[in-house]
Amino acid sequence: MKIGNIKIHGNLFLAPMADVTNPAFRMLCKKYGAALTYSEMISADAVLHENARTTSRGLSCEEEKPFAIQLFGNSATTISDAASIVEEKYSPDIIDINFGCPANVLVKDGSGSALLDFPEKVRDIISSVCGKVNTPVTAKIRVLHDMKKTIDIAQIIEEAGANAITVHGRTQAQQYSGKAEHEYARNIKNELSIPVIANGDIIDGFSAKQILDYAECDALMIGRAAMSNPHVFREIAHFLRTGEQTNTDECAQRIADFKEYVRLLELYGLEEYVDIRMHAQWFTRGINGGRHIRQGISKTRDKKSIIRLMESLCAQFPEKNVNGVIHGN
Ligand SMILES: Cc1cc2nc3c(=O)[nH]c(=O)nc-3n(C[C@H](O)[C@H](O)[C@H](O)COP(=O)(O)O)c2cc1C
Repeated sequence: MKIGNIKIHGNLFLAPMADVTNPAFRMLCKKYGAALTYSEMISADAVLHENARTTSRGLSCEEEKPFAIQLFGNSATTISDAASIVEEKYSPDIIDINFGCPANVLVKDGSGSALLDFPEKVRDIISSVCGKVNTPVTAKIRVLHDMKKTIDIAQIIEEAGANAITVHGRTQAQQYSGKAEHEYARNIKNELSIPVIANGDIIDGFSAKQILDYAECDALMIGRAAMSNPHVFREIAHFLRTGEQTNTDECAQRIADFKEYVRLLELYGLEEYVDIRMHAQWFTRGINGGRHIRQGISKTRDKKSIIRLMESLCAQFPEKNVNGVIHGN
């Protein structure tokens, strides 16, 4: 598929996730077949005022290509000025605009999902950004209670010049609870000619196939399932190709992935920006004995002892394959 002039080899994308999708994490997901990766959301204001954290978020490397940088903000001028700086400084393949974040701090500021109540502002933001940069521009939305209003917003985004749209099938009020409703992505796909990416609750091969078949969308975006298991991209791709689940030793896989993640954090000089204990906790979600491992991790300090602990505790809890389950023990 293509987004604007960017060729994307595959239909499984890594979702933007604040405090998760740093360059090291994105590279890990890329290695397992994520066809497109998104940075954590970056404040347009912070880009204009240039801070170190922003720089670490925007970083990428040639092997990661194609990758997208996501911006959030509440003004067309600020976001488009920031987009122009980001284009020049980081050369992303895609610039994505956040119209989905339900966090209070953004909503109170009129950013993220708050913008969905102001369709003309959405139009203004997308057309200003498209007018300022040569990089393809995409948008990520949540859905509204009203199907027609959601489709109207999607159409506005397309008319304003966006090259693709991601639809997270939850409302702002739902935050992350309830079930993602993919009827929205399906209907938007029927109405629009730009690529539509469905997002929400894709956790394994079964759910991926079900949503692809139902929404008939161009791609799937995966968030929380990748957060605990970057290998999920390979597992889903295998299922979509063969109809079969992979037979991985989940525990060994997670430890290997965590080690590689630590190596990449060192390589990119990102350790100071990451709470390594918290990330180690995610990597143990859904594996056998995960709760015991997390209790141990909460008492350790450095990455080497976290890895030792993961190895010793994994050995005590022989693995039952738990493919893709993220809210397990
Ligand atoms: C920890 C975390 C951070 C997130 N940060 C962002 C973000 O920066 N930008 C964004 O558009 N969505 C963000 N999201 C939402 C995800 O991109 C995605 O839409 C949502 O998790 C639903 O997909 P999933 O069911 O595959 O997790 C975040 C989600 C989580 C769990």
